[in-house]
Amino acid sequence: MDSTLWDEMDAFIAETLLPADPALDAAIEANRAAGLPAIDVSPAQGKLLHLFARMIGARRVLEIGTLGGYSTICLARALPGDGLVVTLEADADHAAVARKNIDAAGQGAKVDIRVGPALHSLPGLEGEGAFDLFFIDADKANIPAYVDWALRLARVGSVIVVDNVVRKGDVLDPASENADAQGARRFFLEAGRQVRLCATAIQTVGVKGWDGFAIGIVEKPVTPRR
Ligand code: SAH
Ligand code: DHB
Ligand code: MG
Repeated sequence: MDSTLWDEMDAFIAETLLPADPALDAAIEANRAAGLPAIDVSPAQGKLLHLFARMIGARRVLEIGTLGGYSTICLARALPGDGLVVTLEADADHAAVARKNIDAAGQGAKVDIRVGPALHSLPGLEGEGAFDLFFIDADKANIPAYVDWALRLARVGSVIVVDNVVRKGDVLDPASENADAQGARRFFLEAGRQVRLCATAIQTVGVKGWDGFAIGIVEKPVTPRR
């Protein structure tokens, strides 16, 4: 498969459907200048996250994995003025770049960045109110643990999106030594048995290579029949 065509198609999608976006362009440039890895969602994927949030009328969003805040800005823009994105980032340098990018994009009031390993921050979110939408995009080895947390912090009808669940097909190998691929693989095996999550996964190609995302909706806990 000619991956240059994937990139050209992504460019075409961006030219036709995504209006010029100086704030997002500036964020990408600031990330590059600060030496952050270029592993943000693509422009088309960022718009998809934005649309998901609007489709469900999200008011409270939890993101795990901020990087420079590209996806955070896409999500925050979808929320009403009193909406909130809580975003968890382990790396203080990434969080500092994100803070600037998010403020420069005019979304500062809607974004709460919590610095530290996500598994340390997550327990502190209990009791603050349920989240309507989750975007899980940090270390892939912990995807199953993050999904468990999302289920605890969700309400019935909340939506969970997980990035990078395909990894060029690496998740197919049960013996893979790649912890990222193993984490994504375990997500599939556990989510498939998880009755509280009605889910699917979509493979993607384009400027970020061959990968994919999973999306699920949180169902009512079932009362066991006796
Ligand atoms: N969502 C971003 C991209 C996130 S890249 C976007 O699309 O724009 C993944 C991020 O997760 C990196 O910034 C990395 O530092 C962070 N990360 C890695 N392990 C983490 C952990 N245990 N807890 C919180 N963040 C983590
Ligand atoms: C990686 C992380 C991401 O969140 C992503 O979208 C792509 C790649 C990575 O760690 O390689
Ligand atoms: Mg990602």
